[in-house]
Amino acid sequence: MAHQVALGIDIGGSGIKGAPVDLGTGQFLRERVKIATPARSTPEAVAAIVDQIADEFTDDLPKDAPIGVTIPGVVQHGVVRTAANIDKSWTDCDGESVFSKALGRKCLLVNDADAAGVAEVRYGAAKGKDGLVILTTLGTGIGIALIHNGVLIPNAELGHLEIDGHDAETRAAASIREKEGLSYKEWAPRLQRYYSVLENLLWPDLFVVGGGVSRKADKFLPLLTLRTPIIPAALENAAGIVGAAALAAD
Ligand code: BGC
Repeated sequence: MAHQVALGIDIGGSGIKGAPVDLGTGQFLRERVKIATPARSTPEAVAAIVDQIADEFTDDLPKDAPIGVTIPGVVQHGVVRTAANIDKSWTDCDGESVFSKALGRKCLLVNDADAAGVAEVRYGAAKGKDGLVILTTLGTGIGIALIHNGVLIPNAELGHLEIDGHDAETRAAASIREKEGLSYKEWAPRLQRYYSVLENLLWPDLFVVGGGVSRKADKFLPLLTLRTPIIPAALENAAGIVGAAALAAD
């Protein structure tokens, strides 16, 4: 029997990426398309690109295929509530309606880290794990997905925990390591502090580390001492697309 397919689109600070996803395997059906995020990433500008990406795949998907889109902010019932690392005009914008209008059909809008977490639990590094899995994406900011026995608890904004008087992501995100020119060894104590606070508050069964920097996990994960097992994500940059597609089909 053919698997269900859905379109996933992941909106990031530098690029907007999309691909049709086979929901049986979590694999792309075709190579993903990436278009640079416009300098002013307003809802209208982003929606035009999302529509362009969806158009690329019209021949690969049934007309009624579910469409999921991610955004790096809190999403409540389709409305974007926070915009830490995107254009401020997203705040309180009904993003789901903006995209549904641009695409001419209903789509689902979800937080980027939530989508990545769902993808890792269904198809990736945390596949089949019971208990509490916390996915952290270390990128421009820090994204979090809390997934308990396969069930997502959405919009956990623990990248913004206040630790030692700082918004955690302004100390420990991968972008900060680059901005401050820190080596992995110099960055590791910040991660140690961050993950220690998280594990002491939430007692997870597993941490999964996503974001582009997870490709270099061997350079920093061995430097951390935690009681919780911590492993790199498996789907890397595909996770947002795959998770958005999967959630749209739920
Ligand atoms: C945002 C989150 C987002 C994360 C990763 C944070 O700054 O508040 O909603 O998931 O960055 O993009």
